Amino acid sequence: MTTLDENTTEQLRSNLDLIGREKINDLEAVLNFVGEYDAEGFHRVADNCPAEFTWDYEKGAKPQLDRLYEKAKKAQWNGQTDLDWSIEVDQERVVIANAEANPAQMQWDEAAMAGTVLEKWDEKRFLQFGVENQNWLLSQFMHGEQGALLCTAKIVETVPWIDAKYYAATQVMDEARHVEVFSKYLDTKLSGHYPMNAHLGLLLDDIVGDSRWDMTYLGMQIMVEGLALAAFGFIHMMTTEPLLKKLLRYVMADEARHVAFGVLSLQEYYKELSAAELRERQEFAFEAAIRMKDRLVMQEVWERMEVPTKDVIKLMEAAPERDDFQILLFSKIVPNLKKLGLLDAADGWLRTKFTEMGAIAFEDLTDSTQDEDAFADGSPAERQVA
Ligand SMILES: [Fe+2]
Ligand SMILES: [Fe+2]
Repeated sequence: MTTLDENTTEQLRSNLDLIGREKINDLEAVLNFVGEYDAEGFHRVADNCPAEFTWDYEKGAKPQLDRLYEKAKKAQWNGQTDLDWSIEVDQERVVIANAEANPAQMQWDEAAMAGTVLEKWDEKRFLQFGVENQNWLLSQFMHGEQGALLCTAKIVETVPWIDAKYYAATQVMDEARHVEVFSKYLDTKLSGHYPMNAHLGLLLDDIVGDSRWDMTYLGMQIMVEGLALAAFGFIHMMTTEPLLKKLLRYVMADEARHVAFGVLSLQEYYKELSAAELRERQEFAFEAAIRMKDRLVMQEVWERMEVPTKDVIKLMEAAPERDDFQILLFSKIVPNLKKLGLLDAADGWLRTKFTEMGAIAFEDLTDSTQDEDAFADGSPAERQVA
């Protein structure tokens, strides 16, 4: 265990304090966590951060944010007209084609299924599982995008710099478009919605409810969007469905800018914080990482398919390579946390945590400030202005 610097006043907090369990990989706890379902059809969270006016209107005082703002203005696209919504999607055929194209990702082997209810499933049931998986995944993307929409609107209010308010305003438009296209895809091409995953919901409530303006950025731009960018990349690579492929490519072009916005905004600010304040940011980042890892277990799908918790645990434990695959989703987050100084601040507490999670190997990959144009050629508007 690491010891704390004299300046760091906080006690070391345990996993139990931070994430409600001792073991990061306690699958039973992850699967049995029940979220708050909102029967009324909406969900209200107190937003505790003061809105901040600035009287310093000097555009370009933060040159990197200004440059990103100018770029974002040109990169807008239209979710209704830039995508070919006439493409027909036969969901069951897509499930089969995806499984054939990615056998390692899509199928459970015999040893993993032995002794579980999956042993008795026929082809139809497996197909239904694949369909439910798609419905769940796209639903979570849609809910996460709404989280981004609300968080970015909050950043417009709370960040103290005019260049950041301007940029965040373009991101609000981007996120509205993302919610719109994922929602349209779900409604017109897939076959059902899922509510927000319980772990993702907990995280988004924490982010929106925090009273410190930088925590919105850390939670949303660095953690949630960092993971989303990697996840969209994988689905983009794996899907055989052309409309979803293009939709994801356009969304990724926007997300690369969003994550860069987070790193550029926070790196300066974090230089001014004390060790104790940095420790709070480290804990927040760790908690967010665990919530996002937990959501990948997809408990709502297992529940709908009536697979008992003990069977899910058996399946997951028999297929450790799935866990390795999930860790790959942290490949954007870890280098960005390093760039912000959060891996090594306060005696390297967060480094220890990511080592425990098995994700520390990504620390030297390219951070997102060098990646903001990585998918720009995929966006129709970027192509028009190039
Ligand atoms: Fe988005
Ligand atoms: Fe975003």
